[in-house]
Amino acid sequence: MSKKLFIKTWGCQMNVYDSARMADVLAPLGYRPVDEPEGADMVILNTCHIREKAADKVFSELGRLRILKDEKAVANTGGDGKMILAVAGCVAQAEGEEIVARAPYVDMVFGPQTYHTLPEMVAKASRAAGSVLNTDFPAESKFDFLPEEATSQGVAAFLAVQEGCDKFCTFCVVPYTRGAEFSRPADQILAEARRLVAGGTREISLLGQNVNAWHGDGPNGSSWGLGRLIRALAEIDGLARIRYTTSHPRDMDDELIRAHAEVPQLMPYLHLPVQSGSDRILAAMNRKHSGDDYRRLVDRLRAVNPDLALSSDFIVGFPGESDADFAATLKLVTDVGYAQAYSFKYSPRPGTPAALESKQVPEDVKEARLQALQQLIGAQQVAFNHSFVGRTMPVLFDRKGRRPGQLLGRSPWMQSVHADANERLLNQIVEVRIEDARPNSLAGRIVTGEFASTAGRAVDHAEARA
Ligand code: SAH
Ligand code: SF4
Ligand code: F3S
Repeated sequence: MSKKLFIKTWGCQMNVYDSARMADVLAPLGYRPVDEPEGADMVILNTCHIREKAADKVFSELGRLRILKDEKAVANTGGDGKMILAVAGCVAQAEGEEIVARAPYVDMVFGPQTYHTLPEMVAKASRAAGSVLNTDFPAESKFDFLPEEATSQGVAAFLAVQEGCDKFCTFCVVPYTRGAEFSRPADQILAEARRLVAGGTREISLLGQNVNAWHGDGPNGSSWGLGRLIRALAEIDGLARIRYTTSHPRDMDDELIRAHAEVPQLMPYLHLPVQSGSDRILAAMNRKHSGDDYRRLVDRLRAVNPDLALSSDFIVGFPGESDADFAATLKLVTDVGYAQAYSFKYSPRPGTPAALESKQVPEDVKEARLQALQQLIGAQQVAFNHSFVGRTMPVLFDRKGRRPGQLLGRSPWMQSVHADANERLLNQIVEVRIEDARPNSLAGRIVTGEFASTAGRAVDHAEARA
């Protein structure tokens, strides 16, 4: 009898990818994903530690799940009557011991680098009372142990190519929760990409905490960077779209920049976090680049591909941030012009240097700065979306819309686009003329029999070959 597996995922796309891989590892043990925790034989919380609020959610969620676990033990319907309750991800890595102490009813606590050992952990947790804790950074790579039979990821898929971070920005937990930078070998990545495409994937987003720090061995002892890897991926027939995220400005090398000019499948949208526009704050953050370094980089990228749109992450209220520092951030946003951006109030994280700074910014100042920044970014996003009204663009329809007869898809620039369309266009790339723009989406009409798009060359090329 199959067992029910419920996974709840917080945090970044890497966690979404990891959750899918956990389901893959558990499939041979008979676990099948379900949509709700009630009655599940295993519940995994795949957690995020990036900001305080994200981490807090875990304990409140555990309180609720404990009740379901007790109910299942009493009802004893199906399975062996036990709900295995697990905490995975970055909170597990950072606070594993505390979870075991505060919530002893949790059966397994394991970090992001150990989920290939799930079968052993499950065997232990089924036998023993008490929690199995595994927050090692094993010498072997989990990627070498993942089953090749993967759950289908659909037409737009994630592919992890790099993990971990050696940058140690002074606000950030990721170097501690994910460990040192690691690049998967190129042949492994290409094999996974080919499997995905054979299974119907048309768009692949390459993932990494510092994805453009990826490096690997090419043929004949050559050394590859991400730009070269993207070129190799672009040779896979049927792969129409390639993206990568998240990049660090310091790791944008010439070859990767050139790929934005020369690889038609590489989408004209880049998430390139800058965090702040103040050189003083950037230095205190240990970003190791200035605001002008970033501006120059953006200029170089736009010089090779004028269609390129940018997004970023920003932190407001970093310790010591003055009004002038914050004004420099607004200035940078105005200078660069973003298609969209994420902004966060600085959240002191245990174990990071910035949390120990005495000059913490008061909450009301953080809040006011966040509002001001989000207003500016919001206005840029609206202007960006409006600039497409009347233009035609290729849209990858990957799901049904809310209304019957409507499909929802993604533009080359990551916008959601909806249009009235026949269902047979689902999972296809179709030319759409944009008729209306909202802050968070575009509405358009299917254009048949023509490829008149300004940015359509990427897809036309791939379509022609596919
Ligand atoms: N590796 C990526 C993303 C890291 S986490 C990068 O280098 O950009 C995603 C975003 O969360 C960061 O870009 C940053 O803006 C935000 N973030 C990280 N730590 C934070 C903290 N302590 N408080 C507030 N925001 C934080
Ligand atoms: Fe965190 Fe900085 Fe590494 Fe990004 S580069 S994961 S923000 S330490
Ligand atoms: Fe969160 Fe870990 Fe990702 S802290 S943002 S889940 S790397």
